[in-house]
Amino acid sequence: CGIIGIVGTAPVADRLMESLKRLEYRGYDSAGIATLESSHLVRCRAEGKLRNLETALTQSPLAGHSGIGHTRWATHGKPSVANAHPHATAQVAVVHNGIIENYRELRDELIAEGANFESETDTEVVAHLVTCEMRKGAGPVDAVAAILPRLTGAFALGFLFDGEDDLMIGARKGSPLAIGFGKGEMYLGSDAIALAPFTDTISYLEDGDWAVLNKQGVVIHDAGNKVVSRPVQKTSASAFLVEKGNFRHFMAKEMHEQPEVVSHTLAHYLDLAAETVQLPGKLPFDIATLDRVSIAACGTAYYAGLVAKYWIERIARIPVEIDVASEFRYREAPLAPGGLMIVISQSGETADTLASLRYAKACGQHVLAVVNVPTSTIAREADVVVPTLAGPEIGVASTKAFTCQLATLAALAVLAGRERGTISTDEERRLVHALVEVPRLMNEALKLGPQIEQIARTFAKAQDVLYLGRGTSYPLALEGALKLKEISYIHAEGYAAGELKHGPIALIDEKMPVVVIAPHDPVFEKTMSNMQEVAARGGRIILLTDETGRRAAGFETEATLVLPDMDPLIAPLVYAIPVQLLAYHTAVQMGTDVDQPRNLAKSVTVE
Ligand code: G6P
Repeated sequence: CGIIGIVGTAPVADRLMESLKRLEYRGYDSAGIATLESSHLVRCRAEGKLRNLETALTQSPLAGHSGIGHTRWATHGKPSVANAHPHATAQVAVVHNGIIENYRELRDELIAEGANFESETDTEVVAHLVTCEMRKGAGPVDAVAAILPRLTGAFALGFLFDGEDDLMIGARKGSPLAIGFGKGEMYLGSDAIALAPFTDTISYLEDGDWAVLNKQGVVIHDAGNKVVSRPVQKTSASAFLVEKGNFRHFMAKEMHEQPEVVSHTLAHYLDLAAETVQLPGKLPFDIATLDRVSIAACGTAYYAGLVAKYWIERIARIPVEIDVASEFRYREAPLAPGGLMIVISQSGETADTLASLRYAKACGQHVLAVVNVPTSTIAREADVVVPTLAGPEIGVASTKAFTCQLATLAALAVLAGRERGTISTDEERRLVHALVEVPRLMNEALKLGPQIEQIARTFAKAQDVLYLGRGTSYPLALEGALKLKEISYIHAEGYAAGELKHGPIALIDEKMPVVVIAPHDPVFEKTMSNMQEVAARGGRIILLTDETGRRAAGFETEATLVLPDMDPLIAPLVYAIPVQLLAYHTAVQMGTDVDQPRNLAKSVTVE
C-alpha cells in the first residue's frame, strides 16, 4: 500500500492523485483520499484502479488544502469501497501501510466500548482508538502518542484531523515513511518517488518515530516520545512520470528496452579497454576471503538470485545458499559474522526482502544490495549498493529489471572469481567478451516476436503449462512459469528437467504444452533425454535452443525457437527474452490486464 499526505496552502486533491499514480506499484485494488473542507473531514474512495477514483473525484470534487491519500493492496478485507482507505470517524481519518497484528483484540475492546465498525480492515481500529482518546479529552497529538504503543506489527500511518487544517501526523514502525519539506507546505509519503513532484528535500523517519507536521515544518519524536532530529537530504528521484511511448503496454516497452538498459548496466561494471570487471567503488569487505554467500529475494528477483548461485559457485567457488526472503527472515539461519548477504530487489521496498536484510545485518553480515531504485529503503539500509540501471519499471511483471539484475550478478561473479584466483586473466577476458555480446544477442532474441505470437495462439488455450530446464536454465524455467501465471492466469510450473520423472511427468498428456529451455551447454544432452521422456508420453514440446542445439536435437517438436549460439554464461540473459515474450503474447491473446494483473502489486510492502 502507498501513503501520501499534504498539509498545504492550495487545493490538494489533484496533487494527491498525481502522487498516488506514482505509488500504484504498491497496490491498485482500491484507493481513496480525505481532505478538510471548511475544516471538516470529507472522503472520496473507489474500488479498483486509480482511474475509478479519478472519475469519482470529477463527479464530486474535493477542495481542501490539506489531505491524505492511499492506494491499497488488500490484506484484511476484500477490495471494496468500504475497505478502501482512508478509514475515518468524525474526528480523524487514517491511511495505513502494513499490518496491525493485534487488531482483533483491539476491535473487540472497541466494540465493547460502543465503536461502530464500517470495514473489515485492521486499519479501522486505529481510527477508533484515536477517537476514544480524543473523547476522553486528549488533543490529536496526545491521542496518537497514547495509542501508538498499543499497536503491534509493522506499519506506517498517516492521520488527518477534523477541524485541524494545519496538522497532520505520521508514524512509522517497520514500514518506511518519509517527510517532505516544501515552501509553506509539508508532505508525508511512502517513498521519495511519491514526493518527487513536490519536493526534493526529504527526511526519512526511523523505526518507532512519529512526526507532527504543519505548514511550517515538522517535529519528530522517537519511540520514547523524545523530540529528535533526523537528517534532511536531497533526493534524486525523478519528478517525471514514465510514458508508454508507441507500445501497447509498459511490459512490451520494457522488454524492448532490454538491449539498451542491460548495455548501460554492463557498461557500469565492465572496463572494456582493460577487458576486466571493475566496480565503480571499493567493496567494504574482502571478497577473496569470504567463505559463504547468502542470497534472499522475492519473486522474479529470487530467480535472478538462483541463477547467480550457479554462477558464483562455478566461477568463484564460494558456497551460496539462497532462500525466498519470506522464509529466510524467519528460519533463523546461523550466519557466521563476516559473511556476505546479497539482497536483490527491483523496488528496494519489498517487506520480506527488507526484513532479511535486517536479519543479516544483525548477524554481522556484510549486506550488498542489488537494487533498481537508488532512493529505496533497501538501498539506504544496505552496506553497499550495486545498482541495476534498468530505469523505472512500471509493468508489474518484471522484465528489464530481471535481466539487469542478471547482468549485475554475472559481473559480480566474474569479479569474485578474479579476486579469489579461481579464474585466470584469460578466462576473465573471455567472460567479459561474452557479456559484451548480450545486447546484440538480445536484439536477435526480440526478432522471435512474430513466431512467438503464433505459438501464443495455441498457448492461450492451455490449462496448464510446464517449463523445464537444467543448470541456469532451471531458474529460467521457474521464471517462465511465473511470468505466464502472473499475466495470463494460466497455471504453469517450472521444473528442473531431471526432476520431471519424480512426479510432474504424471501430468503430461497431449493437451499439455511443455517449454524446454535448452541452450547447447554441458547439460544439453541430459535435457534432451528428459525431452524424449515428455515426447514419449505425447506432451507438446516447445523447444528453446540455439543453432547447434537445434541440429543436435534432431527432433520433431510442436515448435522450436532458435537463438544464435552463445557462451553458456550469458544464456539466461538472452533466453529470458523469448520466455517473457511467450507470457506477454499469451496474455494479450487472453485479453488480460498485462501491466496490472489481478491480485498483484509491483512491490509488496507488507509481509
Ligand atoms: C512482486 C512483483 C514481482 C517481483 C517481486 C519482488 O511480487 O509482482 O514481479 O519480482 O514483488 O519485487 P522487488 O521489487 O523486491 O524486486
